Amino acid sequence: MLVYSPPHPLIKHWLAILRSNFTPPPMFRSATAELGRLLIYEAMREFQPTVEQQVETPLGAIADATICDPDQPIKVVPILRAGLVLLEQAQQVLPFHQTYHVGYVRDPTTLKATAYLNKLPPVLSPTDLFLITDPMLATGGTIVQVIEDIVSRGARAENIRVVAVVVAPPALKKLADKFPGLKIYTAMIDEQVDERGYIVPGLGDAGDRAYGTP
Ligand code: URA
Repeated sequence: MLVYSPPHPLIKHWLAILRSNFTPPPMFRSATAELGRLLIYEAMREFQPTVEQQVETPLGAIADATICDPDQPIKVVPILRAGLVLLEQAQQVLPFHQTYHVGYVRDPTTLKATAYLNKLPPVLSPTDLFLITDPMLATGGTIVQVIEDIVSRGARAENIRVVAVVVAPPALKKLADKFPGLKIYTAMIDEQVDERGYIVPGLGDAGDRAYGTP
């Protein structure tokens, strides 16, 4: 499994804004969005299918052009709630995409995730290409279930890219064991997860902070 954290000063900057306890919700959302945009560009580098075309420029000249393939839209799967902030960026950046929302609740004691919303179609193809957005991969319970839901419908884990702002070792271990072909793009690998399932040092509850939930 590949976990890639691009060494980029802007990624470091926006992550510092997210980590700060004093960042208000609007700035938290925009910093998450910036990170999402940068990470989605990286995730699409050798993933986004393209086709060759020719275009006529304002000078009447013909130029060779590479465009994203309209016949292979990226299937974006945002994990509610905080994944929605990253979804907005995916929708701006990807010229051809489809969206399938999923939502899970975590039992605070067992930390087990249960789906309350799943908009994935019942049947998928091994050639379908997926981008899952979830800012925090902590214990890995939710992301593993989402990927299992996708794979059980006929898609391949090798064709899934995950964009997450901060990830932690328990989630990475679970994912590597189950989906060795998976590729994850993140701003940071943090050290640990506490007994409540929060990443430490982390940035708190990403959904609460993005949407100003007390
Ligand atoms: N989800 C969050 O929003 N924050 C964490 O630290 C872990 C999971």
